[in-house]
Amino acid sequence: AAASGLSLPAFAKSQASGSAPNPTRLQYPEGFLWGCATASYQIEGGAKDGGRGPSLWDVFSHTPGKTHEGDTGDVADDSYHLYKEDVRLLKNLGVQTYRMSMSWSRIFPEGKGKVNQTGVDYYSNVVDELLKNNITPYITLFHWDTPAALAGGWQNRDTSKAFADYAAFITKKLGDRVKHWMTTNEFVCFTDLGYKIGQFAPGLKLPDAQVNQVRHHGILAHGLAVQAIRANTPSGTQVGLAENATVYVPIIETKEHVEAAQKATRLGNAPFLTALMEGKYMNLYLEREGANAPKVEEGDFKAISSPLDFVGINVYTPFFVRADDSKQGYAEIPYPTSQPKMASPWILLAPECLYWAVRNVVDLWKIPALYITENGTSSDDVINSAGRIDDIDRIMYLRNHLSHLHRAVSEGYPVKGYFLWSLLDNFEWADGYSKRFGIHYVDFKTQKRTPKLSAEWYKNTIAQNAVL
Ligand code: NOJ
Repeated sequence: AAASGLSLPAFAKSQASGSAPNPTRLQYPEGFLWGCATASYQIEGGAKDGGRGPSLWDVFSHTPGKTHEGDTGDVADDSYHLYKEDVRLLKNLGVQTYRMSMSWSRIFPEGKGKVNQTGVDYYSNVVDELLKNNITPYITLFHWDTPAALAGGWQNRDTSKAFADYAAFITKKLGDRVKHWMTTNEFVCFTDLGYKIGQFAPGLKLPDAQVNQVRHHGILAHGLAVQAIRANTPSGTQVGLAENATVYVPIIETKEHVEAAQKATRLGNAPFLTALMEGKYMNLYLEREGANAPKVEEGDFKAISSPLDFVGINVYTPFFVRADDSKQGYAEIPYPTSQPKMASPWILLAPECLYWAVRNVVDLWKIPALYITENGTSSDDVINSAGRIDDIDRIMYLRNHLSHLHRAVSEGYPVKGYFLWSLLDNFEWADGYSKRFGIHYVDFKTQKRTPKLSAEWYKNTIAQNAVL
């Protein structure tokens, strides 16, 4: 600067020398938890190793035409064998927590009955490895890999009961070391996408009445599992779930549109989170479904509305709404085609959704503790000639979302932590390996993991506990 004759303004000088705190920096509160998230079928591989039984996703991905280029989770990231390396990646990032899931059919190859001790030992070893590295495990019991042996899958009410038995068994086994459990992940993906749209396992397109019953069995499974976990774990164990609550952003932040977004949040989540939080199905939802409404048995809602210690929400993308005078009280605004999107076309860049996701659900249901159990994006990652993966669009996405989350935290919303999806590129369901969500690049031929620029960014964000 001196040589060119220009001089830096005072504030820039103090920042450049690192001497003064930046008053505009978005600092997170002390104790805020940073983590990464993954799921068993997406990373483990070892599909036939150690006595694991097949899941509906093994069957589906092996059915021609169901996934991108016939990709399967047979090998995935081979984390079944490489988990110690993956814990090293976590350690290097400096995360305090790790959200992972367990494969139900690795523990009960037939979904119920005979236990596979090798599977139990595997998860016990992963947990020990995490704890040895001071990383707190948050475990999801079900992230869509339903044991194939369970007749009828989620169409059968018995599956909810089998899930609770599995939950009881494994939380009792690991409950001495694991203190944070999530029952299910994203109801709509294993119910509607699996049984109505057919895009996910088991690939069915059932009529509405049957779909509603599948949804009901999903939330019942959650409720019965909460009861089972409580009965089998020491006091102090924290129980919640990870739900992709549909997010509604008011088009303009005025009272009428803010209220419209709340109404939309209730109705848009009526079969799932709203039912859990309110202990019944909303009248408007029941009216709309009419004869197709789910059949509810006595006691179901007592289980479904079991009190939770925390709610986890997975947030990627929102809908925008405006108030209107329809019965539901709001209208969804279609996206202009020019709305920026990420590499997965369903992920629109609208980062205020992270703020509104938190505000809507906490204001509606007075949730005492909330986690962002997933947030992240795919990116068209390439290794450049210098051997680096400079995923600046992913960093842009994350930085913007964390800025809006910071607003929620600074307004006093009880957000306890954030789990970035995902630690590694992995099996992205029907998109197979064509969509990369990791902050570590995975060469699926060699299983080599390479940190992307976003990993370096996240590491610094965690170290400084601030949006960088
Ligand atoms: C949410 C799901 O829980 C996860 O399995 C998936 O990979 C991410 N969204 C990205 O689509």
